Amino acid sequence: MINYICKVKESVIPMNKRKLKNTNIEVSTLGFGAMRLPLLDPKDNSSIDEKEAFKMIRYAIDNGVNYIDTAYPYHGGRSEIFIGKVLKDGYREKVYLTTKLPCGNIKCYEDFSKIFEEQLKKLDVKYFDIYLLHAMNKKSWSKVHKLGVLDFLDGLKEQGKIKQVGFSFHDNYEVFTEIIDSYDWDVCQIQFNYFDSEAKDMLDYATDKGINVIVMEPLRGGALVNDLPEEITALFNNATTKRSPAEWGFRWVYNHEKVKLILSGMSTMEQVVENLNTFDKATANSMTEEEKVMMEQVTKIFKDKILVPCTSCQYCMPCPHGVRIPLMFATYNNYSMFGKSDKYKNQYQEWAKKDKDRFTADVCVGCRICEEKCPQNIIISERMVDIVKELG
Ligand SMILES: NC(=O)c1ccc[n+]([C@@H]2O[C@H](COP(=O)([O-])OP(=O)(O)OC[C@H]3O[C@@H](n4cnc5c(N)ncnc54)[C@H](OP(=O)(O)O)[C@@H]3O)[C@@H](O)[C@H]2O)c1
Repeated sequence: MINYICKVKESVIPMNKRKLKNTNIEVSTLGFGAMRLPLLDPKDNSSIDEKEAFKMIRYAIDNGVNYIDTAYPYHGGRSEIFIGKVLKDGYREKVYLTTKLPCGNIKCYEDFSKIFEEQLKKLDVKYFDIYLLHAMNKKSWSKVHKLGVLDFLDGLKEQGKIKQVGFSFHDNYEVFTEIIDSYDWDVCQIQFNYFDSEAKDMLDYATDKGINVIVMEPLRGGALVNDLPEEITALFNNATTKRSPAEWGFRWVYNHEKVKLILSGMSTMEQVVENLNTFDKATANSMTEEEKVMMEQVTKIFKDKILVPCTSCQYCMPCPHGVRIPLMFATYNNYSMFGKSDKYKNQYQEWAKKDKDRFTADVCVGCRICEEKCPQNIIISERMVDIVKELG
């Protein structure tokens, strides 16, 4: 057992809470997503900087966050084990804990319980407050539905091993409504932010059916914060109230009163502290008309420039041929967003010179294995050809 010293703040910020419908559960509006934890080696997603991440999560809990979201594959399978360590010393009882069934790993009915029991062991807990079918889309839903996942979930609920049941989702509105209508779900998790504002239809549909909606990727995995185009920075700088890009992004989401909880995958202590402060003021319907218009302008600037809607969720990885797919898309989008600057072209060409372990777009053989796993349904192989043409 690792022994960490965690400096706890003396005065606890009264984090804003929202009540989940049909339950006695009150969740903090900010939840901690354990998918983008700090790393010791930036090239190795499983190398969680446990000392730093431990401090960050316990600090968040000590200051009002009462919801932790992890999943079987996060950080190469290490996230669940690590969260298990963070939740020792009485911290398990302070939070609602969510993990997810990795539907891609399921081949037969017996796999459901095999994986579920493994997850209980990895997290070293007796039950999960919320258990989600991970990353549902048309194909994965159809597979697990046929294999009897709903009976399996009923069984877990009866045994008290899960309290609330739901699914996280990456597909279109039609598939979403089909899944919602197929079972008596308690919660669902959707990607919703000012760039992906069309997901409001799903928010409305689920809420009307009495299903609690949890939001993931509120900053599009950091894309709505990092290296913003100058026009957007200027809009934020000229706003009547000064706020950071992250605060504008979160504020846009929590302005929707139907959203119960917003997950953020914070990767530094500074982000945790800033986000705690932001969510301390998380009031729905508080955005002024002027602010709403500004956010529409910001969205338009982004939409006009982003070439590939990749969120760096890493679901496509590993590529069997070694292409670092999210890095390729980030470089391509940056190239487009920042006036086709040579900086990104040069960077790409430096990488492409490598004889050994090359990971650039030209290594793609078009096997399309990654495309089945992409929650954004990006035709990755075609975009790799575009990248080679533009940057190669
Ligand atoms: N079930 C699913 O299918 C699924 C899919 C995706 C996510 N999720 C869950 O949802 C959680 C939330 O999604 P997300 O991690 O994509 O959330 P997010 O908040 O959209 O993105 C997190 C990233 O935003 C940046 N960020 C956050 N706060 C910031 C601040 N105050 N200032 C500057 N930058 C800030 C950081 O980027 P940098 O690291 O670049 O600084 C951070 O890594 C995940 O952690 C995961 O638990 C689930």
